[in-house]
Amino acid sequence: MIRFEGASVVVEEFVETPGGPRTAPALVPRTILHPIDLSLDGPFTSVIGANGSGKSTLLTLVNGLTRPSAGRVLVDGIDTVREGAAVRRNVGFVFTDPAAQLVMPTPLEDVELSLRRAVKDSSERTARAHAVLAELAVDHLAQRSVTELSGGERQLVALAAVLAVDPQVLVLDEPTTLLDLRNRELLRRTLRTLVDTRGLRILLTTHDLDVAQDAARTLLVDDGRIVADGDPAEVVAEYRQQAGVV
Ligand SMILES: Nc1ncnc2c1ncn2[C@@H]1O[C@H](COP(=O)(O)OP(=O)(O)OP(=O)(O)O)[C@@H](O)[C@H]1O
Ligand SMILES: [Mg+2]
Repeated sequence: MIRFEGASVVVEEFVETPGGPRTAPALVPRTILHPIDLSLDGPFTSVIGANGSGKSTLLTLVNGLTRPSAGRVLVDGIDTVREGAAVRRNVGFVFTDPAAQLVMPTPLEDVELSLRRAVKDSSERTARAHAVLAELAVDHLAQRSVTELSGGERQLVALAAVLAVDPQVLVLDEPTTLLDLRNRELLRRTLRTLVDTRGLRILLTTHDLDVAQDAARTLLVDDGRIVADGDPAEVVAEYRQQAGVV
């Protein structure tokens, strides 16, 4: 279970003071996420909401990438700040921009790098890496240079590198943004299969309202607050209404 207990995120920002350019800018706190109390116990939750509403910040709280300014976040009872490393072993995080997480020259080497701790034998590691790449239909890219891959291909490779270590929770920030129609459907099918067969729990943000409704539960974030939480179709309808796009 993922639990938010009064977790908030406040940042300090430099703001120009009324005195004009000759006075020093003042550091002013700005609340990005108001205190959140929430328990996510289902297998698949989606998060929707306007640009800048706080969705990515909410996700990064789950693996300790962002520290709550107050309150705490627990993943299966483990505190994301006090035991960050343990949490990150169980929580795989896929960024919107796959370039942020692919560090090796080829997809194969990248997935092998993920497996370095879990699989000591190098030929077994290579076989496992190929198998995970094949699961996402990108094994034919295994030996290519990562820099030559398209954005969507990189996205799938980044997901493979995260899945390779068999996380219990998978957090994805806008995973379909870069994908074409076929790869979007492949990813959706893959996520559903992972939930059904591996028992993986998924938390994702998306601006794709079809993808949002693949989940069992949807959260709507608006200006740093969760303003709706429940049945995906109902929450999506509320979001459309709020945005004036019905
Ligand atoms: N480290 C930070 N320092 C200052 N401001 C930040 C920081 N991280 C995020 N913000 C601000 O917090 C707000 C929420 O950002 P966040 O990335 O969570 O939004 P989002 O809902 O994911 O938006 P999008 O749909 O565009 O991805 C934005 O106004 C952003 O500029
Ligand atoms: Mg975001």
